[in-house]
Amino acid sequence: MMATAATSSLNWPEDVLRLNAICPYYTMFPLDFPLQQLAARPETTRVLDPFCGRGTTLYAARLTRLPSVGIDINPVAAAIAEAKLIQVTPGSVVRLARQILNSGLSGEIPEGEFWRWCFEQETLRELVTLRAALLEMNTPTAAMLRAVLLGILHGPRNKGVPSYLSNQMPRTYASKPGYAVKFWTKREMEPARVPALAAIERRVQRLLGAAPLAHGGKVYLGDSVETLNRLRQKFDLVVTSPPYYGMRTYVADQWLRSWFLGSSPEVPYGSQGQIARQPNQKAFIQALAEVWTATARRCHQGARLAIRFGSLPSARTDPEQMLLASVKESKAGWVVKEVRQAGTPAKRNRQAEQFGKAGSAIDEIDLVAELVDLPR
Ligand SMILES: C[S@@+](CC[C@H](N)C(=O)[O-])C[C@H]1O[C@@H](n2cnc3c(N)ncnc32)[C@H](O)[C@@H]1O
Repeated sequence: MMATAATSSLNWPEDVLRLNAICPYYTMFPLDFPLQQLAARPETTRVLDPFCGRGTTLYAARLTRLPSVGIDINPVAAAIAEAKLIQVTPGSVVRLARQILNSGLSGEIPEGEFWRWCFEQETLRELVTLRAALLEMNTPTAAMLRAVLLGILHGPRNKGVPSYLSNQMPRTYASKPGYAVKFWTKREMEPARVPALAAIERRVQRLLGAAPLAHGGKVYLGDSVETLNRLRQKFDLVVTSPPYYGMRTYVADQWLRSWFLGSSPEVPYGSQGQIARQPNQKAFIQALAEVWTATARRCHQGARLAIRFGSLPSARTDPEQMLLASVKESKAGWVVKEVRQAGTPAKRNRQAEQFGKAGSAIDEIDLVAELVDLPR
């Protein structure tokens, strides 16, 4: 199999790209970054992203007809990324949703002011029923329905037909309960009835109507190093973006989506396993080095590793030095070929722009390395 030479998402009609936007995720790089890397290595046969987030690299691989593997420790990221590899018809997803809702309302309705204000009563019952049923299912159709629901769970209230199930909220992150309740009560903003099935149907048609053929692969929920050590396949292109040093909000900001995937209905403040939670820069560099070592063990000689990395103003670090140190520290046969400022796509597409609440990230860089020697 050969990757095509398209380096820009503009090479595909807009409706073919819609599935990639199934659900926002706090930090995501633009599709053009992995597409450029795929074009730079046209002999690629299988692609890896050890910090896959919402699966942008996996979708780029699908567009270029290649299988791919993604790993992420955050269940929300893994659930969204999984949808990027699935091929199902819109009809099958809607049928499953209808079947679940017709089989009687079930599941435990969370109590408290937040829940009463966030979703209209009947909508919440439907949501809880879908949640309970999907927790027991692992078919591709169920995985797609799950990701669709994560995408419509919360977002702004629009004037016409509603796109989201919740009361007014951002789509990228879930507001904390105290803040949200104050916001809604102050404005006397009662939640509107949004029939779940109709909202699912509209979204599914839009996302899957022109989705490209899937080309295989898998998403693993877990730590990159542990997962890579268990994998058998080999890769020749790795495109990834680790969390920036000091990034702490992946888990808490996605608390409502985490609840939908089975967590308790509260904001979790831990961030277990998140690589960015290392106590200091040295430990973070070491942790990244271990990922590059484990990655090299799963790569063919001559493989290409492309990493987008940056820093948060709050952490005051030099991303280039940190990343170079981590590749050097890995002692795994990676030879750095290029380090440059991250491409300058439309500003809104830059991963840095997603860090609104933490302040804008500065200095995003792209590093490209080649696996010259295979690690022992
Ligand atoms: C910058 S984001 C990747 C975003 C991705 N490029 C996209 O377009 O969606 C980094 C990801 O690394 C994940 N992560 C952090 N620590 C990890 C670990 N130890 N193992 C696997 N994934 C981890 C985070 O959950 C987060 O989703």
